[in-house]
Amino acid sequence: MIDYKVQISEAINNVLMEMEVSTENINVADMIERPSDDKLGDYAFPCFKLAKELRKAPQQIAAEIAEKLQSSDVFEKVENVNAYVNMYIAKQGFIDDVLKNAVLHGDDFTKGTEGEGKVITIDFSSPNIAKPFHIGHIRTTVIGNAIYLIYKNLGYNVVRINHLGDYGTQFGKMIVAYRKWGNKEDVEREPIKTLLSYYTKFHEEAEKDPQLDDEARKTFLNLENGEKEEVELWQWFRDESLKEFNKVYDMLEIDFDSYAGESFYSDKMPAALKELEDKGLLKDSQNTKIVDLEEYNMAPAVITKSDGSSLYITRDIATALYRKKEYNFHKSLYVVASQQDLHFAQLFKIVELMGYEWAKDCVHIQFGMVSLTEGTLSTRKGRVVFLEDVLNKAVESTKEIILEKGVVSENIDQVAKEVGIGAVIFNELAHNRIKDYVFDWDKVLNFDGETGPYVQYTHARACSLINRADENIVKKANGLEGLDTSILGEGSAYDLLKLVYNLEGAIKEAADRYEPSVITRHIVKIAQGFNRFYNEERILSEDANETAAKLSLVIATKNAIRNGLALLGIKAPERM
Ligand code: ARG
Repeated sequence: MIDYKVQISEAINNVLMEMEVSTENINVADMIERPSDDKLGDYAFPCFKLAKELRKAPQQIAAEIAEKLQSSDVFEKVENVNAYVNMYIAKQGFIDDVLKNAVLHGDDFTKGTEGEGKVITIDFSSPNIAKPFHIGHIRTTVIGNAIYLIYKNLGYNVVRINHLGDYGTQFGKMIVAYRKWGNKEDVEREPIKTLLSYYTKFHEEAEKDPQLDDEARKTFLNLENGEKEEVELWQWFRDESLKEFNKVYDMLEIDFDSYAGESFYSDKMPAALKELEDKGLLKDSQNTKIVDLEEYNMAPAVITKSDGSSLYITRDIATALYRKKEYNFHKSLYVVASQQDLHFAQLFKIVELMGYEWAKDCVHIQFGMVSLTEGTLSTRKGRVVFLEDVLNKAVESTKEIILEKGVVSENIDQVAKEVGIGAVIFNELAHNRIKDYVFDWDKVLNFDGETGPYVQYTHARACSLINRADENIVKKANGLEGLDTSILGEGSAYDLLKLVYNLEGAIKEAADRYEPSVITRHIVKIAQGFNRFYNEERILSEDANETAAKLSLVIATKNAIRNGLALLGIKAPERM
């Protein structure tokens, strides 16, 4: 779509040149504002900064610029109010441009090309093997997926990596526990829960019998050395756990390009350690090796333990180096909770100290914690709230709500799934990611709030309007040919058109800030704008041209909502 900011800054730059103002120290594009009140125009340009250069009152400068811009056909009207130049976009050109894009190129009108030829790696979800995939993991999983979709939409080649926690001394413990108290059938029936119970049992027993810890250490060493039996058990635990994780990924329709977890880097660590050593970054400290980060106000990073074994950060150093070599990324993103702020600050600093300028391209996309309202989430499986149960409950409750509302639907199960799961994803993304938030079922599934179901419902309403309309008129609305759309230049129609136009900007902002909530908020605004339009205007009337024009806006809106939701990993059912 037309980028008005670019057009306006060109026009203003031309005027300034005519006025012989040196534009060296002023960035016109950055100075352009969007007035909060539409009555003050679509865009505004404040002239205070020019006063010194021109030795004139800012009001007078604004008046002169306004006068000169008057002739540009981008604008319908340009006027000055005090020191501001207020610009009103020529409506018909704007209407034509938005409809042409959002109706004729409906499927990809928000697509961008800025990322062409650039690779982004995104590390997200990354649960730990044999540990529950619980409500706490929901954030990294859905935020990561949304950021993947948003960047892909901008043309980047985005590589999704599930950095599974599949390595470490805990696997020695689990193997010991399985050998002592384990049972194959139990693991196969309920892998995570069963493995977790072994792990817990191990800790209980090890308190009484410290021998067990030694045994676990030895077992882990065997695993590291590639002993067949240990490796087979570990592989089996990993496979069974992944099966369970995949149930959740299937429900969310999330895929990964790589499942290279921590274990993948075990043979890459010696080289990374050597490099740290060679570059003089390792220090001995109480039998461990550390990187001293005091100079940067950070705790030292322990790189190897006294028994020589590696740590989480050691694996992450090897991982970062590997990803640069393998993918030559433009950016390397890590979607991980704020609890690991220090870990990533240390990691990126170490990479920088190793002399890699690309350390600046590594980004920790952190997020706050989810807590639960008392009693809202109960689970059959005990104290931990499993993500799978949350998603199932969302689908069941949605089905109840749909049945209760009595909206007839053919594929009620499919719709309940798309709406229920969509509701959980939307709720997750709608919160500013940095903030902690409370998961509350009543808010998640509210069809009238600023929620996923509300937005989806609005989309379905737009679809049903199109279905009810005369076929020939719909054809005309879809083709736009010979259609007089000038009536869309007023009131709620024009407001809605502007919201559809601004979706592209919202997507761009969401990408720049790694903040999908910019998109959820904007889609809610589009839905609200549509419902205002729907309530204020008679859309299907006797007047064929008027109906077609309004329907073209309905189609544009429907496409905007569907596109926006798709970038968040949410479906847009046509009926509900
Ligand atoms: N498995 C870790 C956890 O659950 C997250 C891993 C994040 N990625 C990374 N490269 N450190 O806390």
